[in-house]
Amino acid sequence: MKKTWWKESVVYQIYPRSFKDGNGDGSGDLRGIAAKLDYLQWLGVDVLWLCPIFQSPNDDNGYDISDYRAIMAEFGTMADFDELLAQAHRRGLKILLDLVVNHSSDEHAWFVESRKSRDNPYRDFYIWKEGKNGQEPNNWGSAFGGSAWQYDPATAMYYLHCFSKKQPDLNWDNPAVRREVQDIVRWWLDKGVDGFRMDVINLISKDPRFPDGPVAPGKLYADCSLALNGPRVHEYLRELHQNVLSKYDIMTVGETGGVTPAIARDYVAENRAELNMLFHFEHMDLDKDRERLAQKPFRLTELKRILSTWQKDLGDDGWNSLYWNNHDQPRVVSRFGNDQEYWEKSAKMLATCLYLQRGTPYIYQGEEIGMTNMAFETIADYRDIGVLHAYQEEVVQKGRDCQEFLRYQRHFSRDNARTPMQWDDSANAGFSGGTPWIKVNPNYRRINVSAQMTDRESILHYYRRLIKTRKENEVILYGSYDLILADSEEIYAYIRALDKQGLLVVCNFTAQTPLFELPEHIRYSAGQLLIGNYTVTDGPMARFSLRPYECRAYLFSFTEEIYRLK
Ligand code: NOJ
Repeated sequence: MKKTWWKESVVYQIYPRSFKDGNGDGSGDLRGIAAKLDYLQWLGVDVLWLCPIFQSPNDDNGYDISDYRAIMAEFGTMADFDELLAQAHRRGLKILLDLVVNHSSDEHAWFVESRKSRDNPYRDFYIWKEGKNGQEPNNWGSAFGGSAWQYDPATAMYYLHCFSKKQPDLNWDNPAVRREVQDIVRWWLDKGVDGFRMDVINLISKDPRFPDGPVAPGKLYADCSLALNGPRVHEYLRELHQNVLSKYDIMTVGETGGVTPAIARDYVAENRAELNMLFHFEHMDLDKDRERLAQKPFRLTELKRILSTWQKDLGDDGWNSLYWNNHDQPRVVSRFGNDQEYWEKSAKMLATCLYLQRGTPYIYQGEEIGMTNMAFETIADYRDIGVLHAYQEEVVQKGRDCQEFLRYQRHFSRDNARTPMQWDDSANAGFSGGTPWIKVNPNYRRINVSAQMTDRESILHYYRRLIKTRKENEVILYGSYDLILADSEEIYAYIRALDKQGLLVVCNFTAQTPLFELPEHIRYSAGQLLIGNYTVTDGPMARFSLRPYECRAYLFSFTEEIYRLK
């Protein structure tokens, strides 16, 4: 397998609006990020992924871009960005930008032109269709609810928007669109950025027949995700790679819903020359019933099956990204851990379980201090367009019980991840001197960076140790992966191997005390505890009782050839 810097890096994701407010207007900004570079360097991460920082009317918090070469006014100026990039580079930190080019804002100059007339030169930058019998062109629904088509009276046609109606989909079948995107990407790379996270990138090629899709019970429209992995997506990504990306030493990660490991190979296998890695979502729906907007029981065996399949199937050709959290997901400690009695133990265990696997870790701001979900009380507390649309549809239109709806959102809403970063126990968690754009989680007095900095047993120090441990051990970076005890609903255990070097990772996902027993065929010597979340005094690594949410990782040597991994 080829070794590269991005396989050895740890990425830290920043949601700029909620990270650090540098000018007291209640919104985070670029100067705020710059003020925290020392902290990020201390933590030991290598790459900072910034969620969109470009000019935007903020219908979807920056995922609706009206100028790809300008900085959003709330976040600062281009000079602030240049300064941030220079300061980050001086510290050896790289910067990844968010490329949102499946759609633009309806306020982008291209769309302003496009909607003017049917023969405008920019008309074909977007996807316009005639209605069918006075109805939408097909039955596709937008991810935020309602039809994915918006009627535009100026030209009496509909345009496609897989997200909000202020996010019209770009028409990638038009070579002029692809040229513009390439120019934008080149422009930022020439400025010195180190790569891109590509928003819903496997949605860029639509089936030209625009066929109707299946409609789930109780729904009015077909899920727009049926347009994922379309007919020309690989052609377009290869073109982007060949013309632009391949000329720079950068990293790319595609956000790709609806991909299995088999589909993923076509995007990330080395000979494909498309992307370096992907974000898949297979482990993100384990506890969520999307159709019914309800929680469903989490099964550890399912989580293990999913993550292990990705580990095995992308094997030596391809690369995984490892994440529990991002700005679209609830906080993992509240989700797969225990944010009450075992908050600290379970946060450390979850990090150990995932970040000792093979792939590039993505730590989402606040995860490193165990930030939790937020119990917003009323709909007025929410800011996310997704929640607000769903409320209109489910509660206002369909009459669903409001409390039940809010209960679901307390578990799964994207705003759980978007509350301000908790820096210290001063007003607004030290995030802003103004009024924050979204409520601060009241637990900030207990959970904050400053308190954890001074406590060497904190989650924060543990993350720092874990990051360092990854870098110091080649077996973590490049070793193979094998799941053991696949049927256990309590223990997630696996073995990494690189030549004779082995790593055993054992994680208890429960508040019980299950017994761990190493399968007998694994012969080892010199088992030595590398990292764990409890003090360990008992004997060998082959058999021990786990305490609630305990995790341990042991380094060892294989003594017999029988343990052949791959
Ligand atoms: C995925 C982004 O992560 C999400 O925040 C956004 O709403 C959609 N793409 C649309 O851009």
